[in-house]
Amino acid sequence: MAQRVITLCAMDFPYRAGHDFPLFLAPMSGVSESPFRLLCRRFGADVVVSEFISAVGVARGLEHLFADMRFEQAERPIGIQLYGADATIMARAAEMVTAAAQPDFIDINFGCPVKKVVKNNGGSGCLKDLGLVQRIITAVRSATHLPVSVKIRSGWDDAQRDPVAIALRCREAGAQALTLHARTRTQMFSGKANWDEIARVVDALDIPVIGNGDITTAADVVAMRRHTNCAGVMVARGAFGNPWLFAQARDLLAGRPPRPAPTATERFAVALEHARLALALQGDTRKTALEFRKHFGWYTKGVPGAGSLRERLFQIESMREAEAIFAAYLAGSAVGQAA
Ligand SMILES: Cc1cc2nc3c(=O)[nH]c(=O)nc-3n(C[C@H](O)[C@H](O)[C@H](O)COP(=O)(O)O)c2cc1C
Repeated sequence: MAQRVITLCAMDFPYRAGHDFPLFLAPMSGVSESPFRLLCRRFGADVVVSEFISAVGVARGLEHLFADMRFEQAERPIGIQLYGADATIMARAAEMVTAAAQPDFIDINFGCPVKKVVKNNGGSGCLKDLGLVQRIITAVRSATHLPVSVKIRSGWDDAQRDPVAIALRCREAGAQALTLHARTRTQMFSGKANWDEIARVVDALDIPVIGNGDITTAADVVAMRRHTNCAGVMVARGAFGNPWLFAQARDLLAGRPPRPAPTATERFAVALEHARLALALQGDTRKTALEFRKHFGWYTKGVPGAGSLRERLFQIESMREAEAIFAAYLAGSAVGQAA
């Protein structure tokens, strides 16, 4: 990828964003829940965004969605992300979220590729109709006093791939910040995110543009900034079991050597803290333990003997089992401090 010269023109975020180059934890359904958001904030994420929430469900007053929206004050600044394909319902939902949850901003999801969402024209489905995108943004802006950001993909498919045109329409309709996940809907999560497109959108817009796609290391954060001149970077899959990435990226951005990777002991301690936060929220159920298998798998990536450790963790039915597996590993291997 060609290197671009950074012209430092820091854009003002419409919400408090922590640093002049903020690091975002991406909205991720089933991952970016309150416990993980809290941990990432502690490890240096400047802004977090909730998992996507159905505007139809909110407008109907579905209790469990309001529970999903809850967050701790320590998570702020936080955006609540809404998806939907009806401007009136999106506006009603934004109004209700503003009153009930009082987040720092509302984020509109125009990127979700999941079939059941796009079949009703929600998420990235909206990208096929930019008039609809604009009506939704305008309606949401007029329904809330909070700042409104949008998260888009580069287009629906290769034939309709035009992130600059989409972004300009969003801006025209009143979006106050924009995140580009530089893949099309039909790409889903395959192929490489096109960082050149992020650079083009940054050049075209006079609002903060946040780059997203394929950030897996702290060095990637610096590389994306250099390549695109974006106003901030959003980390998604790279944060799986790795909230340390934010602190390492902040070190690099500040010109310091990045702090070393966590030891196995540190990894397991944070994994279990994450689990305890989830237990406090959801109760000690088998369901929580099953949901946590994936997190434990991610937290153990790269430790010696990770394969067999993971095999055992993928069978847990309670958090206690996980605690015992971690304790046995550390007692037996004596690699806890060295991994
Ligand atoms: C498990 C998972 C759940 C996701 N859920 C959401 C979501 O609720 N809202 C959203 O806008 N994007 C969602 N995304 C997309 C991410 O926010 C991000 O745009 C995408 O993963 C690209 O970034 P990456 O290459 O760094 O992973 C999700 C992605 C994953 C992997």
